[in-house]
Amino acid sequence: MSSETGNDVVLKLTGVEAGYGRIRALNGIDLEVRRGQIVALLGANGAGKTTTLKTISGLVRASAGTIALDGNDITGMKANEIARLGVVHVPEGRHILRGLSVRENLELGAFTVRDAAVKRERMAEAFRLFPILKARQHQDGSLLSGGEQQMLAIGRALMHGPKVLLLDEPSMGLAPKLVLETLKIVKRLNRDEGTTILLVEQNARLALKLAHYGYVLEGGSIRMKNDAATLRQDASIVQAYLGD
Ligand SMILES: Nc1ncnc2c1ncn2[C@@H]1O[C@H](COP(=O)(O)OP(=O)(O)OP(=O)(O)O)[C@@H](O)[C@H]1O
Ligand SMILES: [Mg+2]
Repeated sequence: MSSETGNDVVLKLTGVEAGYGRIRALNGIDLEVRRGQIVALLGANGAGKTTTLKTISGLVRASAGTIALDGNDITGMKANEIARLGVVHVPEGRHILRGLSVRENLELGAFTVRDAAVKRERMAEAFRLFPILKARQHQDGSLLSGGEQQMLAIGRALMHGPKVLLLDEPSMGLAPKLVLETLKIVKRLNRDEGTTILLVEQNARLALKLAHYGYVLEGGSIRMKNDAATLRQDASIVQAYLGD
């Protein structure tokens, strides 16, 4: 199978349950992400979107079910091992480290990369995608604007060379124009670099425009799933689950 959008499943969740202490947040999630796709994960506040991403990346433990990456079981592995396998999580909020320059923040993203030439290449790639990061590379990362910090967070994730990128509300807190800009970059990453992306996004209409496939979560369960184009036509049904 080529690296084109194909039928091969990169990430597969089967019956995944997870929670926080006695709070159950996921009630048996079945979800697939195919190579080269953007898959949108939609749902109202508290539906379990962030928990799904955290469970995939090993930050929250699955209490039942399995998570497979390229057919290999990764359930229960430590977060850093999962990252090393190429599942890279850009969490809610931007988590830019204060006291480190833009460049150093990017370098942190490459902690799994040993080859200096590969690191240089990826840095050049991040700068190509986000010219502002190049211009500000020696400035403290925390001094960037909100939108620029989001670019830095995505750039840092790209330094890993992700097999699957988990993006948790990359447009959160951004002005409408920047929301569009950011989602365009997500689209470009997918189209030009072939990056496979699981995207959590509040703006369902926009997310379904760029995604190939979508899932709608409610109360920790998948209520709808379909091709993004079909979900766009069912917009009123999708919207009913989004609580806005
Ligand atoms: N650290 C935590 N401790 C306890 N409960 C939590 C914690 N994080 C999330 N929850 C609960 O788990 C459920 C799912 O939360 P989650 O953060 O996954 O929702 P979400 O879909 O990402 O929502 P949002 O759109 O607001 O980001 C909610 O009921 C939430 O209150
Ligand atoms: Mg969330």
